[in-house]
Amino acid sequence: MQKVAIVGAGRVGETTAQILAEQETCREVVLIDVREDVPQGVALDIFQTAPFFEFDTRVMGSNDPAAMQGAEVVVVTAGIPRSPGMSRSDVLDTNVKVIDGIVADIIKYAPGAIVIMVTNPVDVLTYRVWQLTGWPRERVIGQAGVLDASRMAAFIAMETGFSSRDITTIVLGGHGDSMVPVARFCTINGIPVSHFIGEERLDEIVQRTRGGGAEILALRKNSSAYDAPGASVAAMVDAISHNRNRLLPCVAILEGEYGQQDVAMGVPCLLNERGLGRVIDLGLNDGEMQMFVESAAGVRADIQRMQPAP
Ligand code: 2OP
Repeated sequence: MQKVAIVGAGRVGETTAQILAEQETCREVVLIDVREDVPQGVALDIFQTAPFFEFDTRVMGSNDPAAMQGAEVVVVTAGIPRSPGMSRSDVLDTNVKVIDGIVADIIKYAPGAIVIMVTNPVDVLTYRVWQLTGWPRERVIGQAGVLDASRMAAFIAMETGFSSRDITTIVLGGHGDSMVPVARFCTINGIPVSHFIGEERLDEIVQRTRGGGAEILALRKNSSAYDAPGASVAAMVDAISHNRNRLLPCVAILEGEYGQQDVAMGVPCLLNERGLGRVIDLGLNDGEMQMFVESAAGVRADIQRMQPAP
């Protein structure tokens, strides 16, 4: 892949850029931000790590949205993060205005790109981008489940002492308190996690996963999480850039899967050079399906609360 544009040179944008550059996922990373000088400074700082990590990815910063020209993937992280005590929905009114402007730039400068939404509330805003662009759902996806699943895997590693490398987790639904970590599909090297962790403790891990973002925000106080979010976005870009056909939980527009349509939700997706290859419809049991439906209702309520698309 030649070029990835990251709109928003905040902490998540910066971490994503650092990892993409370090891993040489593409030849050029451009950070775009409205704040004067900031994206240039961030880009320079990242590029100056090149001798340590031995990469020659070009890293640029710009205040001009035209800099996204030629990008095959556009990652959108711009917007305000939540403060302690706020839910992701609380930042919707502000962020939808930011995103509407960015979508106009993407349509103008990167009309063939795959968009990865990161700004919260990510499911609602992924829907917004899909609606405004009118693009096929293959090219408009959101990052949530990769992060939520990595949090759950970390908690399982901490609980059991097994290497995170061997832990596979999956988290579906909206990226909020009603997300659906599906413990039934979580394994440690193929062995169901229930073999190692009792039901009650597993329920606590599920709850901790749901509050994983808020836990970090409460601890850090002046910042949301950004290390694991940046790594999660980079994993999605890597799957696209290397046409890996990875199965990752992503926010996708549903077209009948899980009994839902006209909504964006976290579901297992095949990711490759086309973006979303397909949505994998798991046979959820009644309890899981009920949680999924409740989660979809929350996302839908926020979608309806948004100003009509301009
Ligand atoms: C998180 O879960 C901010 O939504 C982001 O940390």
